[in-house]
Amino acid sequence: MCGIVGYIGKQPCVDLLIGGLRRLEYRGYDSAGVAIMDGGTTRILRSQGKLNNLTKLVAQEKPVGTLGIGHTRWATHGRPSEQNAHPHKYGSAAVVHNGIIENHAQLRSQLQSAGHKFSSETDTEIVAHLIDDEIKAGKGAEAAVRATLAKLEGAYAICVLIDGVSDTMIAARHDAPLIVGVGDGENYVASDVPAILNLTRDMIFLEEGEIATVTTEQIAISDLAGNPIDRPPQRILWDAMMAEKGGHKHFMLKEIHEQPRAVTDTIRDRLSPSKADAYIDGFEADPANVRKLFLVACGTSWHAALVGKFLIESLAKIPVEVDLGSEFRYRDPLVTDSDLFVAISQSGETADTLAALREAKRKGARVLSVVNVVGSTISRESDGTVYTHAGPEIGVASTKAFTTQLSALILLAIHLGRRSGALDEARAGELITDLLQIPEQMKSVLDHEATINVIARRYATARDFLYLGRGINYPIALEGALKLKEISYIHAEGYPAGEMKHGPIALIDEQMPVIVLAPRGSGYEKIISNLSEVRAREGKVIAIASRGDASIGDLVDDLIQIPDVRPELQPLLTVLPLQLLAYRIADIRGTDVDQPRNLAKSVTVE
Ligand code: F6R
Repeated sequence: MCGIVGYIGKQPCVDLLIGGLRRLEYRGYDSAGVAIMDGGTTRILRSQGKLNNLTKLVAQEKPVGTLGIGHTRWATHGRPSEQNAHPHKYGSAAVVHNGIIENHAQLRSQLQSAGHKFSSETDTEIVAHLIDDEIKAGKGAEAAVRATLAKLEGAYAICVLIDGVSDTMIAARHDAPLIVGVGDGENYVASDVPAILNLTRDMIFLEEGEIATVTTEQIAISDLAGNPIDRPPQRILWDAMMAEKGGHKHFMLKEIHEQPRAVTDTIRDRLSPSKADAYIDGFEADPANVRKLFLVACGTSWHAALVGKFLIESLAKIPVEVDLGSEFRYRDPLVTDSDLFVAISQSGETADTLAALREAKRKGARVLSVVNVVGSTISRESDGTVYTHAGPEIGVASTKAFTTQLSALILLAIHLGRRSGALDEARAGELITDLLQIPEQMKSVLDHEATINVIARRYATARDFLYLGRGINYPIALEGALKLKEISYIHAEGYPAGEMKHGPIALIDEQMPVIVLAPRGSGYEKIISNLSEVRAREGKVIAIASRGDASIGDLVDDLIQIPDVRPELQPLLTVLPLQLLAYRIADIRGTDVDQPRNLAKSVTVE
């Protein structure tokens, strides 16, 4: 999401920092800043918008110093603005941070009660306050950072400078990547390899709960308790483009593999297992006053909306209508001021979804949005927003945005269900416990990439594909077909399995691969009948089934297994093999996976 870079050495550092930030530009960002140690005090320069704004500011202000940290922000807490840009400085401590401090609200109110005044809306600023308190209490720089980290919950990669300590920068990580680059008489810190790849190829990858105290000559790594850790640097041989993609061939593949992290970030600080509840920041819905929900979106986000209908109707028992942004306002929809309109959009800028939102508002509906890009138009025009913390999605074909949208919709369904009384504490508790297991289960599906590669090679030359699903997995069939079409240019259709005999069955012959979503659950027997109908007509069946389903293997040509989870959570797993399959087939066919022909990432025209 955000990017961090740090330098300590003998060279003037500001241009090196800006260069590092520029190399992280592909991640997209909304503000940037640097802190430069100048005569024992850090000087902070920050600006909203593109990096060029910061470059201009730096050219005017000409900060000097050979120790500095820099940051590009991709907003998660607090809108994009200069005030919310990093570094955040309080007293003696200047901090840059990637990740989410989950207990920030609680720490902020404790600090406010002790008289602290805050100048930003970010979760990061509390870290500077806490470190400064420790310094004032007499601790040294490293001890102050260590004591602060012990109070933080959530994910962080941080880099810290402290006034009066001109020979050290301190970096630490927990659940967010951080690298220390090894130079000759100079050293570097970065969130990502590409930021410093032009300066060094020797990198130490910090692990969870580690702190690095970095001077010009030394890199001392220790754990949170202060035990020293000896870790030699690794030599990175990737080229610059490869490094931006985290070693993957395409952004899409990188983003597919980021999904366990993205889903964790989306659900983590919004669930209370002890209260069996889910929270939507800044938005309380009273289901007693909600007649109907409208879920409106385009493309992949519309598929998330279709899953959302199943979730909300089943868990909250509130009627849901799903609409395409491009259709909604042309059919004079019957929206009233007792309705809740939910816009779902990765970019937050899709013109049709935005126009639908405006139409619903005009008719008096309350508007909530599920959006990935903080500060985007759809989020600004909504009464409340559930941000999906997917991080910037660069590949045109949406992957991690989709699974984070599904996660956000599960949160919304639990939130509404608990308040409507339809979801009792026991069922909500079980669902939350299972949801918290999902990121690990996603990893286990992604680990079986090799099986999918074999299947991809077998069917890469097919002319058409059919995707079948039922119930909550029917939208996943649509999504699987869309992914394949977009990036491989193979014609593919998603269909509700029960509808196959009303038409598409005529297409089936020995040339036609049919992907069947057949995890355990209600409708399982019916889907087995559907796949038998395909087999009887010589179609090739590739099934996505629950691990432990001993009998399905005999009925299909190819089998991809996923963990056996409750139906509400299945789409988070069933979609993963379909993303990987589309990716592999496209790669085999040699298409431009990240920028498929005729497509744009954000469709801002109607
Ligand atoms: C498909 C894809 C598109 C988008 C659609 C809506 O992979 O990415 O179908 O889902 O253009 O975009 P957002 O979610 O930004 O409104």
